[in-house]
Amino acid sequence: MTKESVNPVAAADRIDHPALATAAAAIDRLLVLGGGYTGRRVAMALEAAGVPVLLTHRQPDPSGNDPGWLHFDPDQGALPSQSDLAGVSHVLVTIPPNAGGRDPVLESLEATLRRLDPTWVGYLSTTGVYGDTGGAWVDETSPTQPLLERSQARLACEQAWRRSGLPVQLLRLPAIYGPGRNPMLSLRNGTARLIHKPGQVFSRVHVDDIVGALLHTIALPPQARPDTLILADTCPCPSSEILGLAAHLLDCRLPEVQRYADVAPSLGPMARSFWSENRRASSRRLRDDLGYRLLYPTYWEGLSSCSGDFF
Ligand SMILES: NC(=O)c1ccc[n+]([C@@H]2O[C@H](COP(=O)([O-])OP(=O)(O)OC[C@H]3O[C@@H](n4cnc5c(N)ncnc54)[C@H](OP(=O)(O)O)[C@@H]3O)[C@@H](O)[C@H]2O)c1
Repeated sequence: MTKESVNPVAAADRIDHPALATAAAAIDRLLVLGGGYTGRRVAMALEAAGVPVLLTHRQPDPSGNDPGWLHFDPDQGALPSQSDLAGVSHVLVTIPPNAGGRDPVLESLEATLRRLDPTWVGYLSTTGVYGDTGGAWVDETSPTQPLLERSQARLACEQAWRRSGLPVQLLRLPAIYGPGRNPMLSLRNGTARLIHKPGQVFSRVHVDDIVGALLHTIALPPQARPDTLILADTCPCPSSEILGLAAHLLDCRLPEVQRYADVAPSLGPMARSFWSENRRASSRRLRDDLGYRLLYPTYWEGLSSCSGDFF
């Protein structure tokens, strides 16, 4: 494996991240484990700044345009070798727990990663580890009390990463949205549902604020990096509110409002699990203590920035 990198970033996707140059200068080579929605966005930003990037998938990109592809599929025994990863200084893990609730990266690659002796390992986790707070705010100091099985698995994976002795930073995320993943798409394809549950809010973060915050934290001196960080915008709100803005931006009708109590039995288990927890995730540490300035402080700026995809 040579020092190849992912697809060039389209000009429209270039974001002015203030910490990009400093972060890029700090990274010899970046390994992004999991080339999904967020992993790919991070990889593209750093590749555009000249950083050699390796991005893993279980399958090659069908378009064949993914020169940085690194095959990582532990279930099939496809693991990168030590020489594939030579020179990697920074690692971002975006892969969730496997079906058994264990961490697929640690299970298959822990010793290899340790031999690389990376400077930084970012682990994308979820604010689901805080469980249900009845809508109260949580921050990095709040107790973790996951109720859902997948969030319990996530907490166990976080703890396993901590025990690994690698320089891990846990990055806890609420719902991720951005171009290609937002409620305007569900309105357009007719799958949006306007559901009201009194008092229920959801927190969210724009994918480019994940990228920006990661760059910001990589650019900090290691001793200034908190070991756990919530990446979220400032405006948890009911999903009906963001759907209302989506309809406004698209100039289309909202679906009929439905009461959660009426529709809950018809929701799938995953959707029901999302509605079963209510909390507000605070990114005060990121913004006030670390000085990161959100690109999209609320869903209003974030969703508006995606509306160009539709016109
Ligand atoms: N989406 C959200 O709203 C949200 C909210 C909070 C936290 N998170 C967490 O944040 C992280 C990034 O989210 P995302 O939405 O960007 O993820 P995503 O688009 O689903 O991408 C996940 C990546 O992980 C890879 N992957 C999954 N299971 C794997 C396995 N067993 N072995 C090898 N590779 C595997 C996938 O590989 P392939 O490319 O081969 O499919 C994909 O590239 C995830 O851990 C997610 O659970 C997500």
